[in-house]
Amino acid sequence: MTHIALALLLLMQPPTPWWKHAVVYEIYPRSFQDSNGDGIGDLKGITSRLDYLHDLGIDAIWLTPCYPSPQVDFGYDISNYESIDPKYGTLADFDELVREARKRGIRILMDMVMNHTSDQHPWFIESRSSKTNPKRDWYVWRDGKGPGEPPNNWLSEFGHSAWQYDSTTGQYYYHKFYRQQPDLNWRNPAVERAMFNVVRFWLDRGVAGFRLDAITTLFEDPELRDEKVLPGKNAYGDQNEDDARTDNHPEVHDVLKSLRKVIDSFSGQRVLIGETYLHGPEDLNKMYGANNDELQLPMDMQVGLIDTLDAAAFRRRITESQTLIRGNIPLFVFNNHDIHRSLDRYHPYAAKIVATILLASRDAAQMYYGEEIGMKTTPPTRKEDVRDPIGITGWPKEKGRDGERTPMQWDSTANAGFTTDTPWLPVPPTADTVNVARETKEPGSLLSWYKKLIALRKTNTSLREGTNEMLDFDQSNVLAWLRKSEAGTVVVVCNMSPETKTITLRGALRPILRSDSAATGRSMPPYAVYIGAVQ
Ligand code: GLC
Repeated sequence: MTHIALALLLLMQPPTPWWKHAVVYEIYPRSFQDSNGDGIGDLKGITSRLDYLHDLGIDAIWLTPCYPSPQVDFGYDISNYESIDPKYGTLADFDELVREARKRGIRILMDMVMNHTSDQHPWFIESRSSKTNPKRDWYVWRDGKGPGEPPNNWLSEFGHSAWQYDSTTGQYYYHKFYRQQPDLNWRNPAVERAMFNVVRFWLDRGVAGFRLDAITTLFEDPELRDEKVLPGKNAYGDQNEDDARTDNHPEVHDVLKSLRKVIDSFSGQRVLIGETYLHGPEDLNKMYGANNDELQLPMDMQVGLIDTLDAAAFRRRITESQTLIRGNIPLFVFNNHDIHRSLDRYHPYAAKIVATILLASRDAAQMYYGEEIGMKTTPPTRKEDVRDPIGITGWPKEKGRDGERTPMQWDSTANAGFTTDTPWLPVPPTADTVNVARETKEPGSLLSWYKKLIALRKTNTSLREGTNEMLDFDQSNVLAWLRKSEAGTVVVVCNMSPETKTITLRGALRPILRSDSAATGRSMPPYAVYIGAVQ
């Protein structure tokens, strides 16, 4: 083939979409960097840290909600979808963030909360004003079963009945989350139209796509049948219930198909990521759409929440994630703003293993700020210090999510370089040693490990494009896998046990990256990681 023919052929190949190998970095704007000294992080703060993120090597930032909000659920209760909360800045600050990020090859993804609005949103204020208001049917209103009795037994994710009585009209409204987060009625086409216009507003402003909040909860059983009661009580003291009537309703797929058409009508490979806590890989498979016309990246929460260093469980689950989704790309997640940090859920010595599973597998990788330096969960120790309302409702069994939302630890100065004022949540004592400034200088630090892995993911063809083949060393509690491409084979070996382990691998090995100079791939010190070329 002539050079010209080859060049033409390459030009004709559609470029691999950026999100297929992406590292998506979640930022909780309240906690990342304060620029105006009010103790709360903001958009200008994020912009000022873009060089750090560029050095880390991430491809995209997912910003948790920074729209105007009464902040009952710290932004997940939105009162205006087309602006920025003054606490975080202005639309001009947002545009600047998009622009500055783009200069560094970083895309911005917004968090889109479509299941519910704030009870202070003008739509809900109208809706609750009378039974005949044109917006009445934008939310889920029902009569109670009898005096003082809600329409059925459905429970809020955040404790107690999911129905709130409203005396203005004598009816109840449904809220899957806080009572200040009334659910929209997605069976009303006007709701879809309004929400899709919001989506267009942000796509026009240059966002690369969305993380769809609580997307599986858009619809409920239209007949309002009770959920099945399960044995035991939850952290809020309510009866345990199944979620078949209020989660994962098939109509969600119709909305996703229509939404996908909207984002595909914009140029530049926009992406839909879904918050998808599901019952198993079969459900996850459906979220891509039968014709791959729904979410590009539903979150695979099952690998990252195994919560124990069990090589057999990881091998099984990662194999499923590679085989049951028809060649699609799984999005692995070990950390986010709702779950305890992986450092506490696994062994602290295993932080490099977690990073390796996330970044050396065939997946798109989602990170959460601070994961790369080894931030710990630091929950409040007294009820009066709790900021997240579920921690107040559920205390002491459920302490809320403050522990995983503490300020980013930049350096060892006062307030870890996050703010000059009192931070909205206390800076954990670990900030003295666990911080960006110190770890940047140390070649053996967790931060350096993340950087090296992300760089390898970009430059090593097999780690980037290769297939993922799990090896079985369950007996030794060693998790190992091969990444194969035309460029060669790479083996990744993680010893999940506190003892040195020896495994049998075929072929000559050449180390590419290892967490311990004594790790050879075949002989592995406790919790060591080895990545090598197989020759
Ligand atoms: C999602 C968010 C969580 C929020 C909830 C309600 O699960 O991740 O933080 O509280 O939705 O919007």
